[in-house]
Amino acid sequence: MKTIKISADIIECSKDELSADDRRLVQSAEDFLPHAYAPYSKFSVSAAALLDNGVIVNGTNQENAASPSGLCAERTAVFYANSMYPNNKVLTLAISAFFEGQIVKNPITPCGSCRQVLLETEQRYHSPIRLILAGRDKCLIVNCINDILPLNFDSSFFD
Ligand code: THU
Repeated sequence: MKTIKISADIIECSKDELSADDRRLVQSAEDFLPHAYAPYSKFSVSAAALLDNGVIVNGTNQENAASPSGLCAERTAVFYANSMYPNNKVLTLAISAFFEGQIVKNPITPCGSCRQVLLETEQRYHSPIRLILAGRDKCLIVNCINDILPLNFDSSFFD
């Protein structure tokens, strides 16, 4: 018997400490927060995906009265990016959320379904997706999706 340890290096920093490119991506996510359609939760989420061709693709959460029919911001952004630019990798995804009149204090982290989709996107494009999880002042930087979805299920189990 042995113990398997799982760990990841996640960077915590202030918005001021981000590089100019990362700040621009976070700004883009924040700019699109008003495009969220969140009449039920009133919790707006926005994701900005930087592609390897320099294009930024935005997505926001889109809710539905039949709640499972809605979609999170991360999947909206990544599915849109992959539909519009199937030959371009997503390099970095910035995520921002707004609730009760302000950007949330603490950075939000993608839900399990989004992690699963982001993981497969990494594998499909053979390229890690960096996450910048942006709160009001504080940010978390995740180097790849596997770091926040260890022991994941993927297509290798079909082998
Ligand atoms: N939501 C996202 O868009 N991304 C996340 O990472 C977490 C949650 C959305 C789903 C729902 O529309 C609202 O936030 C409240 O859960």
